[in-house]
Amino acid sequence: MADFRFMLAAGVCALALATPLHAQTTADADTKADAIVKQMTLDEKINLVFGHYGTVNAKTNPAPPAKAIPYSAGFVYGVPRLGVPDQTETDAGLGVATHRTSPDPRPRTALPSNIATAATWNPKIAYAGGAMIGNEARLSGFNVQLAAGINLLREPRNGRNFEYAGEDPLLAGTMVGQEIKGIQSNHIVSTVKHYAFNDQETERFTANAVIEEAAARQSDLLAFQLAIEAGAPGSVMCSYNRIDGAYGCENAWLLNDVLKKDWGFKGYVMSDWGATHSTIPAALNGLDQESAGASFDKSSYFDAALKEAVENGHVPMARLDDMVHRIARTLIAEGVIDNPVDGDQSAKIDFAAHAQTTLADSEEGIVLLKNSGVLPLKPGVKSIVVIGGHADKGVLSGGGSSQVYPVGGAAIRGGPDAFPGPMVYYPSSPLTALRDKLKVKITYVDGSDVKAAVEAARHADVAIVFGVQWMGESIDAPNLSLPDHQDALITAVAAANRKTVVVLETGGPVTMPWLDKVSGVVEAWYPGTSGGEAIARVLTGEVDPSGHLPSTFPVSEAQLPRPVLDGDPVNPKRVDINYNIEGAAVGYKWYDRQKIKPLFPFGYGLSYTTFAYSGLKATVSNGVVSVTFTVTNIGKVAGQAVPQIYISPNAGGWEAPKRLGGWDKVALKPGESRTVSVSLDPRLLATFDAKGHQWSIAAGDYSLRLSSDAETSVATASVHLDGRTFAAGAR
Ligand code: GLC
Repeated sequence: MADFRFMLAAGVCALALATPLHAQTTADADTKADAIVKQMTLDEKINLVFGHYGTVNAKTNPAPPAKAIPYSAGFVYGVPRLGVPDQTETDAGLGVATHRTSPDPRPRTALPSNIATAATWNPKIAYAGGAMIGNEARLSGFNVQLAAGINLLREPRNGRNFEYAGEDPLLAGTMVGQEIKGIQSNHIVSTVKHYAFNDQETERFTANAVIEEAAARQSDLLAFQLAIEAGAPGSVMCSYNRIDGAYGCENAWLLNDVLKKDWGFKGYVMSDWGATHSTIPAALNGLDQESAGASFDKSSYFDAALKEAVENGHVPMARLDDMVHRIARTLIAEGVIDNPVDGDQSAKIDFAAHAQTTLADSEEGIVLLKNSGVLPLKPGVKSIVVIGGHADKGVLSGGGSSQVYPVGGAAIRGGPDAFPGPMVYYPSSPLTALRDKLKVKITYVDGSDVKAAVEAARHADVAIVFGVQWMGESIDAPNLSLPDHQDALITAVAAANRKTVVVLETGGPVTMPWLDKVSGVVEAWYPGTSGGEAIARVLTGEVDPSGHLPSTFPVSEAQLPRPVLDGDPVNPKRVDINYNIEGAAVGYKWYDRQKIKPLFPFGYGLSYTTFAYSGLKATVSNGVVSVTFTVTNIGKVAGQAVPQIYISPNAGGWEAPKRLGGWDKVALKPGESRTVSVSLDPRLLATFDAKGHQWSIAAGDYSLRLSSDAETSVATASVHLDGRTFAAGAR
């Protein structure tokens, strides 16, 4: 597989030198958009910057616009006389969602959770998944897809970690950037969200993220910056929370200074649903479109109020024209105007092909965390008992606005009626898939009766216990334990059968008090609408597990920067969340800096085969660090390696001892070797100098470590770098 990192770096250079296609389109788009804006009336301009909720709600949205797609996220009137289409908006990053009040959900294909896609470490998988869900969005009549989320995993209890891409800016930025690119390959607009530091759900509407600029630029903002460079999303969704005192959707530093000025973002900023808090400050500080204004906000800030502000001169007409220009040029640049969506064409969706796309994503994202020889399930195994997790019915999905409803109907639709419910299981049963593959006796017990589960385990060759943890938007997990006494169930089963395998379907990291008592652990995340098949393919060895953790798994909450989650889920108190505790040292960087040993490190993942590495070399040319090495599959089965390159300044001076500088994913047959090249983005070698408003690489020697995770070191090399600085938006 060609080294994606190298291609990215090469692309970056090309971008710096030539005028790539997208920029040419952008220039045309700007010209065309200017011509449109010049012809617009004030009312038409207001139409374009004021969005409506697409889902009927007796109290807050009794009469959505007639042309809104039922039970969808949003609708924005266009300007038909000027060829500007309505904007029909759907959630989100896992597929085409239906908002929960729908009596008849729109059945569509669900990708595994975004954290599972991040766990594939395979940018091509992320692109393919985005292309697939973007196709389903277009064929469902949507031309704006509110995906994908990239908030860094600072908080393992965050209810929306399943919608994001883990703890590292490079991994998250690369993977989400590719998903966005895939979505937009369907000539629809994609969004990157939630900008920024919406890193927990507790008090999400009012919490204040406190973080210094350099730490911000080197962590969450770097993830957004890399995703925007890689995916060129037409839109950025500003977040509910405050950042250093100002709400995300009226934060001039975040929107005007960083996003639009430093990074040169040409698209438009849409608010989250209920995240707009003013007319004049929001308009002047960088918000371009209020989403779902009349239904979610305290007032309709960008409707008549904005018109009056413009007429009174409080918001210059030039600023309104800029807002409208950004929206129009995006619709042009992404091909939305030249390729208008054409209502409900869902009969044309190739669900069979899409099932294969989500299957490939899901199985590549499954992480083998422990294997004392019990996996893959061998032909010699005579009897298996599968326990718990509704594994006889299907696989779990996460709750909230991103909820996709499956073709064939939910296997289970339970949990809370109120948002972020319902709790939905997809009809892809791991038990059924295992029975199809293994001609052995496989029984099932639901785990509600521990004694029965123990008895069944005692009489089986292998016991497979499914541990599930439902998470959802607007709520954080109270702790990192599996809920509903599942830890006790697993412990009891393992005591009865030493060949016990645990399959986890969780929203993110969980603790494992039973780890040393079981023989195998697999993290399957929320595995999507083909998840049962994916799990069975990994457990039986039909496919080699090649997932690697996109986030650290702590031993316990005590290891976290905030052992106790900030904020009150019941009585919000406008809490300050001090992200300066860890600053840019998010995830493995925190554990390195604090010299803490987690349960499983970032980047960790086992395989059924073994890889050897050799010939590590590092060079520097024009300030770009490149690394080459050879990977060999020295085992007996085909598999995919994920060699990772970490870099450290020998003199220190960074937020943490090391950073992920690059990686590749290499598929190898037994005995096969491949030489790999990885180039490091210069921002990963730099610190942000807030006073000088620039990136700065310190002269000196740097160590490079070739690893299979953030803890081990397979080989090292070193380079000398000259000192240099470059602009906040440069590379
Ligand atoms: C939600 C979410 C956002 C989603 C939007 C529309 O509250 O925060 O991710 O896209 O509203 O449903």
